[in-house]
Amino acid sequence: MEATIESKTKHDAIGKAKTLTEEELLSQAASFLPGGVLHAWKFPPDLQFVVDYGKGSRIYDVSGNEYIDYVIGSGPMILGHAHPVVVAAVQKQIELGASFYQLNSPILQLAERITKSVPCAERIRFSSTGGEATFYALRFSRAYTGRDKILKFEGGFQGANDYAMMSFSASGRTDFPYPEPDSYGIPRCLQDEVLIAPFNDLAMTTSIVSEHADQLAAIILEPVQRYIEPKPGFLQGLRDLATKYGIVLIYDELVTGFRLAPGGAQEYYGVVPDLACLGKIIGGGLPLSAICGKKQIMDACDPARRGTPGYVVHMGTLNGNPLAAAAGVATIDEMNRINGYARLHKLGKDLREGIQKILNRHPNHPAQVIGVGPLFYIAFTAQPIFDHRSGLKGDAKLRREFDMEWVRNGIFINVGGRHYISAVHTDEDIQRTLAIVEKVAWKVLRK
Ligand SMILES: Cc1ncc(COP(=O)(O)O)c(C=O)c1O
Repeated sequence: MEATIESKTKHDAIGKAKTLTEEELLSQAASFLPGGVLHAWKFPPDLQFVVDYGKGSRIYDVSGNEYIDYVIGSGPMILGHAHPVVVAAVQKQIELGASFYQLNSPILQLAERITKSVPCAERIRFSSTGGEATFYALRFSRAYTGRDKILKFEGGFQGANDYAMMSFSASGRTDFPYPEPDSYGIPRCLQDEVLIAPFNDLAMTTSIVSEHADQLAAIILEPVQRYIEPKPGFLQGLRDLATKYGIVLIYDELVTGFRLAPGGAQEYYGVVPDLACLGKIIGGGLPLSAICGKKQIMDACDPARRGTPGYVVHMGTLNGNPLAAAAGVATIDEMNRINGYARLHKLGKDLREGIQKILNRHPNHPAQVIGVGPLFYIAFTAQPIFDHRSGLKGDAKLRREFDMEWVRNGIFINVGGRHYISAVHTDEDIQRTLAIVEKVAWKVLRK
């Protein structure tokens, strides 16, 4: 039987945007912004909205619609929106100054917390975005090894810099993973510098690495690739390979850092890389990222080494920004105070299991809910998913239709992508979500 649940709840708009209607704001967006959007995706006209404000696990659009939010700012808002502890920390800091381009207490407090929590982090440098952090981690690796090539995994996302935008959205039409630029405008010569391997295939990765070992500076990966967990032994196998050939192993922990555990995937899976990239949660929703890792690699940017071989230039106006650091410190401390990691894992398990139960009632469209900790992803296929190509086997059209219906019913998700749960999602949020998913499943999957 179809579940009965009301569609979106209405609230009064409270932000400044209330002076203009949503339609007027969307039309402004269309005239100022390419495609009328901020990112690489766009909702169909009936689902487009402008956010008025966020509070806890919910966001509200300027027409007054409420959404349970599983995008959480694309990951940073682990304590939900406008958490009072984070707001207070940012308010306190902004009165003291927003940016100094000099050492300051909040960034040192953050550095202390990261180096205490993250196993590889003997030294740390701050930057503003994840794409910048991965770009620099690769530069540190090339400087350290004196080699140029890097290896990444098909379907892995390491930000939007030119090296990383290779085979993230690979078509899978070639016989073998090979570097396909994800964007126009990427220098052709970079295709020769990036090797692509299939995620979770240690035998194939070993053969690529051993063939190119004397040219390879780094192996970079998301330890949980998008939503796919590493098979037992895969991370340790990469660790051993990197050690054997003197290659720098880089974990891109933008998503997993301070999310699977305070020490990220390297704590959760117990395999420690040489360098790690962090972002999202460590800035509490403000722009902040970091490259951290072994002292002998990171010390390459010590100004005392300027002019000597191996010196790495790393700079940025906002590097070490105190406002973002204050938000990050408040977020990390509050997560520890509320035992947030246990909560994230419990909520993730409850939601994944609940959705799977609903999907099982529609055997005409076999589906699986994949993920770990507070991450979840739905694939419409019964085939096991362990890498990018097996992930492409899911029915993407059906998935998109299914996801759009969630949004239509007041749940904000990354359509076709992976979703995040925060530590402030309530049990009631989960129950309400499941009731909506039940309704959506009846509508979309009955066919
Ligand atoms: C695994 C991973 N690496 C890098 C990035 C890039 O981070 P940013 O968007 O801050 O540049 C992202 C962003 O979602 C990510 O998920």
